[in-house]
Amino acid sequence: AQDIYILGIESSCDDTAASILCNGKIRSNIVATQEVHQQYGGVVPELASRAHQQNIVPVIHQAIAKANIGKKDISAIAFTRGPGLMGSLLVGTSFAKSLSMGLGIPLIEVNHMQAHILAHFIEEDGFGKPEFPFLAMTISGGHTQIVKVTDYFSMEVIGETIDDAVGEAFDKSAKILGLPYPGGPLIDKYAQEGNAKAFKFPKPKVSGLNFSFSGFKTAVLYFVEKQLKEDPHFIEKNLKDICASIQYTIVEILMDKLKKAVKETGINQVAIGGGVSANSGIRTALLDAEKRYKWKCFIPKFEYTTDNAAMIAIAGHYKFLKKEFSDYSTTAQARYKI
Ligand code: KG4
Ligand code: ZN
Repeated sequence: AQDIYILGIESSCDDTAASILCNGKIRSNIVATQEVHQQYGGVVPELASRAHQQNIVPVIHQAIAKANIGKKDISAIAFTRGPGLMGSLLVGTSFAKSLSMGLGIPLIEVNHMQAHILAHFIEEDGFGKPEFPFLAMTISGGHTQIVKVTDYFSMEVIGETIDDAVGEAFDKSAKILGLPYPGGPLIDKYAQEGNAKAFKFPKPKVSGLNFSFSGFKTAVLYFVEKQLKEDPHFIEKNLKDICASIQYTIVEILMDKLKKAVKETGINQVAIGGGVSANSGIRTALLDAEKRYKWKCFIPKFEYTTDNAAMIAIAGHYKFLKKEFSDYSTTAQARYKI
């Protein structure tokens, strides 16, 4: 049979990314991360779409060149239709449509949240794939979901955040501590040398499998403000312990719901995705759950957990096999359910 080359394009937030997969195997995976947002402490949508506009052609050229193929070899183009920032999505969507027209090859729309989960199916030596059915927990700066996955495109959200995403809980806590954006990785770094039991933060009471993180951030703020009144150097003196305590609580919040989901569904295969899955605390907790509760856990390679286009391409690959193509009337969708 002929080789299937899928070009994946991702532009839902602040990363412009393109990737080529050949029969589901990585040939290239290029990401241009936008530095411009750092000074604002968060993603500025208008600046994001402008940067996508500048980056998209070079990023796609690089992905094709690195894969050592020509444009004519590409079998189909997969792009992120949503969810995400409208202005950002429009850049990738319009570009994907035009390129598909120009090359006369199929266009495939992909749901970004499904793609985070399907990243586990990128062919990669040393990484096993989950078997259906499994539970996926997608945790990042924009999402917090627990999804029951029964097939490549049969997914059901069984729990999600009712306010902030877990990555925001990390980043906003970091901001309160005066750490630069995005502060999640820094909290993780300091946490590894701190005492997780030094301070106690409340866990939210949310029904079912849903999450809430906005109260947590406020609790951190009040706690720090109160301590600073007594000792202006409280943060410097206790940074590692504060970070360890914050991380410990966030990981407990995630694991409590994950345990509940495993219990309710009877499914003990758990796959994680999204930038926060890089966190050392959640990784340790999952490895612990493998031993203690006999779960089977799947943690993808770091470059496939944060926003990337290889995950869009693998989702495109499986749609290509089913000949599930989009027509040119398809539009970007800021809110787009799994
Ligand atoms: O998936 P991602 O790159 O982008 C989206 O938000 O979609 O995730 C970025 C988020 C940020 O909130 C960042 O602080 C968080 O992932 N993050 C971490 C770690 N690495 C990235 N949070 C905690 N610990 C980490 N090691
Ligand atoms: Zn994402």
